[in-house]
Amino acid sequence: MCGIVGYIGKRDVAPLLLEGLQRLEYRGYDSAGIVIAGKSGGLKAVKAKGRVRELEARVPKRFAGTTGIAHTRWATHGAPSDENAHPHLDTEGKVAVVHNGIVDNASELRAKLEADGVVFASETDSEVITHLIARSQAVSLEEKVREALKIVEGTYGIAVMHADFPDRIVAARNGSPVVLGIGEKEMFVASDVAALISHTRQVVTLDDGEMATLKADDFRTYTTSGTRTTATPETVEWEAASYDMGGHDTYMHKEICEQPEAVDRVLRGRIDDKFSTVHLGGLNLDAREARGIRRVKILGCGTSYHAGMIGASLIEGLARIPADSEPASEFRYRNPVVDPDTLYIAVSQSGETYDVLAAVQELKRKGARVLGVVNVVGSAIARETDGGVYVHAGPEVCVVSTKCFTNTVVAFALLALHLGRIRDLSVADGKRIIEGLRALPEQIQEILTQEEDIKKLAADYAEAKSMMFIGRVRGYPVALEASLKLKEISYIHAEAYPASELKHGPLALIEPAMPTVAIVPDDSLLEKNRAAMEEIKARSGRILAVAHREQEKADHTILVPKNEDELDPILMGIPLQLLAYHTALALGRDIDKPRNLAKSVTVE
Ligand code: M6R
Repeated sequence: MCGIVGYIGKRDVAPLLLEGLQRLEYRGYDSAGIVIAGKSGGLKAVKAKGRVRELEARVPKRFAGTTGIAHTRWATHGAPSDENAHPHLDTEGKVAVVHNGIVDNASELRAKLEADGVVFASETDSEVITHLIARSQAVSLEEKVREALKIVEGTYGIAVMHADFPDRIVAARNGSPVVLGIGEKEMFVASDVAALISHTRQVVTLDDGEMATLKADDFRTYTTSGTRTTATPETVEWEAASYDMGGHDTYMHKEICEQPEAVDRVLRGRIDDKFSTVHLGGLNLDAREARGIRRVKILGCGTSYHAGMIGASLIEGLARIPADSEPASEFRYRNPVVDPDTLYIAVSQSGETYDVLAAVQELKRKGARVLGVVNVVGSAIARETDGGVYVHAGPEVCVVSTKCFTNTVVAFALLALHLGRIRDLSVADGKRIIEGLRALPEQIQEILTQEEDIKKLAADYAEAKSMMFIGRVRGYPVALEASLKLKEISYIHAEAYPASELKHGPLALIEPAMPTVAIVPDDSLLEKNRAAMEEIKARSGRILAVAHREQEKADHTILVPKNEDELDPILMGIPLQLLAYHTALALGRDIDKPRNLAKSVTVE
């Protein structure tokens, strides 16, 4: 949610920052801005409503400088506009701030500043930070920023420039990510490594409550109270090419197609054939502790919540531990009973989602043990949890999640197998699941070869104004996720229901103009699912089934290969990613950057 990038060194800064912004655009894309320290002193800023390309078009030819900061915005306070775009400068144009996060006490601070005569140029909460820094009487820039942040409540990742201190950029973090990129006589600051990876793979991730001063040939980190901290640069696992589109038209398409190798990666090095189990290095949970777990509560948002639902059913099925998944955003506000024998699991692709992070912090405050199932290594949630399983899907750039969903579910299957084999899962069942897991990459590839057929179906269903998705038990989270995917990128209204609930209300919606996608695995519930399709047919509803064999009641069937019953949901979701993709494409949608959304929701 909002991307920040900054550079200090010897190179021409504007092209570097614009390139960084392009790479961060998935974090927010309603307006963008850039400020540089001009060669003859002073700060020069350009801002534009719209995408980074709009900003690029406005940057003058002569915009030379070697230090600058930039921002791409996802609006919270104030509509997308030139004025509300960051960086925010003070009245004299000496201080510039880019901010990711939310200032909770912005109205109160704004009122005080206005009473003191400050004239605001935007409606944003972020602008208060600029004026507080500008009005500080402290001597150093670091001290000015520190003084300002002392009275700011809320979350922030910020980068600050000051015309009187042209040799440095000061950054600070509280709740919104900030990484430093360490180069040869040049330094970067960004909210994500994506912005700097084509220049350096050496990074330092700031902790909450940490600040940094970047100079061209040096950096130092310290707490907001001024105590020096040690920061040893780490090498980023991924190469710059992992953030490219790799010949595909969209990131979403690339990421759907990458799933066979992504699943292979999450399995790699973890399977133990001798004991028909898996090794999960970062779990920090010994066998005795695992045996003592009485419940599992999984917390995530959006797609990760859906992956958690499948995870819960895997854990309950394979380890026989009662488990459920709940939206983290709801959990944290209902004063939940925190039970010492419950294992809590936070799920997040980005590892940044504020609602999930806040739920983890609340749980830890109450003494709970919390594990993470996270994709981004070293992210806030990964660091806040007591251990966990990395999902290893690789960078996911498209706002909608595809390969991360699949890999998260596979990571849950590994965890469930691990817990099951410590408890009562037999060697034979362990072996059965391992064989199923090993078959997944090839089976996913087989599904991907049906893309042309799915594209034709999508062209047909793209005319629908509204669609119903149904599934039973394991199929229900698949229906939920498929319906979320469709609405996120095609803007077609979609509902997801357990097939068993149809006749309790939603059946009233069924008519020829409301097609249904039915998840129909070949399992013990096959006949029940067929009965639900009968009910829909009897009301002249059209049906697209995702099934292991042709379904006569359906108008169309997409066939998926059969795996073990427990692992079938992983495969059944894949053709529906393609269906959502091609439906959105047929409707001419901006697939990688759907309206109103951003990838990392770092605000409440
Ligand atoms: O990074 P996270 O997994 O924590 O993100 C949670 C949701 O915001 C995210 O899954 C969202 O639902 C996606 N747009 C799904 O495609």
